[in-house]
Amino acid sequence: MADPLPPEPPASEVTPEKLYLRRRDFIRNVALFTGTAVGVGGGLYWLGARQAPPSDVLVPDAGEVPQPVAHGVGALDTDEPRTPYDVVTTYNNFYEFGLDKSDPARHAGTLRTRPWTVVVDGEVHEPRTWDIDALLAAFPLEERVYRMRCVEAWSMVIPWLGFPLARLLERARPTGAARYVAFTTLNDPEQMPGQRRGVLDWPYVEGLRLDEAQHPLTLLASGLYGKQLPPQNGAPLRLVVPWKYGFKGIKSIVRITLTREQPPTTWNLAAPREYGFYANVNPAVDHPRWSQAHERRLGEFRRRPTLPFNGYAEQVASLYQGMDLSRDF
Ligand code: MTE
Repeated sequence: MADPLPPEPPASEVTPEKLYLRRRDFIRNVALFTGTAVGVGGGLYWLGARQAPPSDVLVPDAGEVPQPVAHGVGALDTDEPRTPYDVVTTYNNFYEFGLDKSDPARHAGTLRTRPWTVVVDGEVHEPRTWDIDALLAAFPLEERVYRMRCVEAWSMVIPWLGFPLARLLERARPTGAARYVAFTTLNDPEQMPGQRRGVLDWPYVEGLRLDEAQHPLTLLASGLYGKQLPPQNGAPLRLVVPWKYGFKGIKSIVRITLTREQPPTTWNLAAPREYGFYANVNPAVDHPRWSQAHERRLGEFRRRPTLPFNGYAEQVASLYQGMDLSRDF
């Protein structure tokens, strides 16, 4: 049967054209300074990921590869098959370490994740600079198995280890004026070679409305598959918002600021017509250059329909009552 769908968008489409041109430049430069032949079209990487990963990729030895831990499926967990650990940790988007899907696993080893501090400030009664280990000790970690849907139309199922962002916000005690939460990634071009290139405005920033940030599904994750997050997945702390496109899941967070106004977000700044502030997974609202109606679950051959709010509509649709989600995309 003929496939009625267009092929998966190539990297040249996924990245806005202006950026793509700079991206080609960037790839050339990355290739020059790493001596690595880097290609575009990371979508093919999955084929390679079934083979042994390159030796410089940060995955545990075969004997250490964590097996899915037996646990009761919680109310918020999906029981769909989990994407294998070596795929979750070798097929990444983390532009601070390069633009190809395989770059973060090769290059993020330069990231020093200790000591590390996370500032919580802005419209809160109790601003604080947290040492990462104190932060992780203060809030009990839970495992949550979530779908993750990238705006590029691929998806995974990942068992995260983290705690609800709501717990940290409670501790900070938002003022009555707080309406949004802004997140910032580390800004350190020494450690993050991609930041030496103007491919995006650095540091990477993201934001949520306060009620989205307080939603029980919204996690700050410090691990996956029962282990600490590898750097390429956003160590030591990243955001996970499973009903939104993956780019909302900002990595390697150093600052969380409560604000009165909607904060700027990196991909919206880069291409406002293509990436909105809300970025709720929505099969009915296409990206200007490709359909969002279907997605490719890594490891599966046929594309599957994309679910409204990535399958979390029951939990989150009420947050958007009265909004026009084709305008507030
Ligand atoms: N955070 C930072 N700081 N830099 C990035 O380039 N990429 C985003 C998001 N967080 C990104 C980021 C995108 S586009 C996606 S799809 C997810 O991280 C990918 O997360 P993963 O590599 O753990 O699958």
